Amino acid sequence: MRRIIAVVLLIVFASVSMLANTTAHVRAKRLGLGMNFSYLENWWLGTKEKSYSDFLKSADAEKKLGAFKNISRAGFKTVRVPISFGAWASYEQPYRWAIPEGIQFADKFIEAAVAEGLYVIIDLHHVELDNSVKGSDSTERLVWLWTEIANRYKKLDPEKVFFEIRNEPHDIKAEDWRAQAEVLIKTVRQIAPQHSLVVGFHDWNARQAMIDSKPFADKNIIYTFHYYDPFIFTHQGATWSSPGLPELRGLPFPADKRTIEVPSTAKGTWIEEKIKNYAGDSKASKMFDDLKAAKSWSEKNDVPIFVGEFGSFGNFATMENRCRHAEAVYSALGKLELSNAWWEWDGGFSMFDKGTGSISGCMQTAIKKFNER
Ligand code: BGC
Repeated sequence: MRRIIAVVLLIVFASVSMLANTTAHVRAKRLGLGMNFSYLENWWLGTKEKSYSDFLKSADAEKKLGAFKNISRAGFKTVRVPISFGAWASYEQPYRWAIPEGIQFADKFIEAAVAEGLYVIIDLHHVELDNSVKGSDSTERLVWLWTEIANRYKKLDPEKVFFEIRNEPHDIKAEDWRAQAEVLIKTVRQIAPQHSLVVGFHDWNARQAMIDSKPFADKNIIYTFHYYDPFIFTHQGATWSSPGLPELRGLPFPADKRTIEVPSTAKGTWIEEKIKNYAGDSKASKMFDDLKAAKSWSEKNDVPIFVGEFGSFGNFATMENRCRHAEAVYSALGKLELSNAWWEWDGGFSMFDKGTGSISGCMQTAIKKFNER
């Protein structure tokens, strides 16, 4: 009898230790502390007449190349490089690179990131260009783009370089995204059998969308979601997101006793709801529970996850409040051992003290929480 119990225990132990040990798990864990390098996705800097393809100015791009060194020096291990590859390709079949200069710049950026020894996530960002160009995100076009991108970068070390198939799919039903994702996963997998793919879900890579979804059949996938809660804090003053946000400014984090006035533009919208719930939503314990729910999904399904974007817009929030918010997120990510990437290095969400290229002291303290576990 004892022997039987011992054998059963051994089998249970062996299967538990086999869980969470796939290539994708191992690689996801290594990503650790990451940073988004935002610039090559700024399609909106281009003009509508040129389908935004002219957003890249080579003189500016050259100046940006040195940033990877600074990201690495600041202690980040991973860089996610969002790229609007789609803006440089034609919109009608047969597809081709209409602006070859764009893709050549992408090569340079990726090369510079790899040369720093960073883990590099090549992310197909904003391929739908906010639905401003018809057909930009059709499955055929994305298959063409991924065939090109995967062939171009398949020689890069699969231990270091990752392919994120599409950033923040939105205005697409869960099942339609799933169908498109299946096709893209197969496309990249045939070309790059060893690379890990990064895959998020509908509704802008929402955490809940991930929790409501099932993993795909491919075993070498790291799942991703974006965490911008509480949204009215992280997007206060943002003009590109929802009505009501541009008028919100100077919010405290966490909430204090003062009532936040609901801007007239937010009345009756989900932003009004968020303002009402802010006291509860800005508690570190609530944020921990949110992230823990994502972690539980990953454990239940035995797949790794990566928080691909989180951060706060800096134009209208004080650094002290932003740091307290960052600390709440970093300490939860540390405790839950979730690899991540802050949005973003040197744009409106940067961690720098105003007018400098140096990470603010209280942000450095916040980041340290990640390693305190
Ligand atoms: C978008 C950025 C935006 C950020 C936060 C990203 O996915 O590309 O334009 O600033 O999310 O809203």
